[in-house]
Amino acid sequence: MIQVEHLVKKFGLRTAVDDVSFEVGKGTVLGVLGPNGAGKTTTIRMIAGYLPPTAGTVAVNGIDVAADPVAAQKQMGYMPENTPLYDEMTVAGFLGFLAELRGFSGKERDRRVDAILEKCMLAKVRHQTIDTLSKGYRRRTSLAQALLHDPAVLLLDEPTEGLDPNQKQVVRDMINEMAPDKIILLSTHVLEEVEALCSRALIISEGRLKADSAPADLKKRSASYNALTVELLAPRAEALQAFGRIPDVERVEFVAGDDRKQVLRLVPRDRQSLAVGAVETAARHKWMVTEMRSDPGRLDEVFRQITTTADVVKQSA
Ligand SMILES: Nc1ncnc2c1ncn2[C@@H]1O[C@H](COP(=O)(O)OP(=O)(O)OP(=O)(O)O)[C@@H](O)[C@H]1O
Ligand SMILES: [Mg+2]
Repeated sequence: MIQVEHLVKKFGLRTAVDDVSFEVGKGTVLGVLGPNGAGKTTTIRMIAGYLPPTAGTVAVNGIDVAADPVAAQKQMGYMPENTPLYDEMTVAGFLGFLAELRGFSGKERDRRVDAILEKCMLAKVRHQTIDTLSKGYRRRTSLAQALLHDPAVLLLDEPTEGLDPNQKQVVRDMINEMAPDKIILLSTHVLEEVEALCSRALIISEGRLKADSAPADLKKRSASYNALTVELLAPRAEALQAFGRIPDVERVEFVAGDDRKQVLRLVPRDRQSLAVGAVETAARHKWMVTEMRSDPGRLDEVFRQITTTADVVKQSA
């Protein structure tokens, strides 16, 4: 369990993290989203025990991170945004060195290093020095060091950033596979990744926590949520008129069609569900519906909505 209470970080006069509180339990993949400079990395660094908070506390499995960072860090693996790797070391040498720091030696150290090289697909670069690695391989070496001691808590700051599409998928699969037994907190700018990986998402903007819910629930705040696309065999003008009369329909948009088949988009008032009304209307007119789908909402719309409101308020003030 991670408990973050009233966390604040100030750099001089700038407040980078402003009174952030949340709790996460085992089995959760928590996505941390927010624009550049929102305070994601700063928050993660404080949880990881690499940056002292100005105020507030972080506890990991009951251990206060500021009071006992060494004990807390035993429970955590941290993949930083910019990896401070030891350039002159080989990949295997670096991981072996870190394994020693984590308290593994001899056969156990070698076993762990071999396993993690395999898992992160680094075996073929194991003897290469870190300064000669490509960006993606450096990121994977950074991920490998975070996983070395099989920690209960993983903090991953943009884990798939800079990886090629195949490697992105490999890392996502790894995260999904590890998810049930761990707490995984990851930051990302890739919203599809949030939908594919995260059971819960935080949106941070200007240091403040603006949203905390399941991605599917966040999407319901989207303006397009529950808009209904109906494909049917009907005369266009009559269909536009009839669907426009459904009480919860704000407007009907013509998407495509010919003299037989129409594709219409029904936009609801207050995100109401329109399926029943649409089916009844079609049945009454004996129009055959060939397809119908309601919009699940869009995370990018909600993200924009939530992270730009503050600017709007500021400008009008
Ligand atoms: N060591 C520091 N000294 C001064 N200001 C800092 C320091 N670290 C971060 N900041 C500032 O704190 C704010 C939050 O930065 P942070 O790196 O946490 O953002 P982020 O959400 O991770 O952004 P990105 O998406 O670009 O990674 C920014 O305004 C940044 O300039
Ligand atoms: Mg960052």
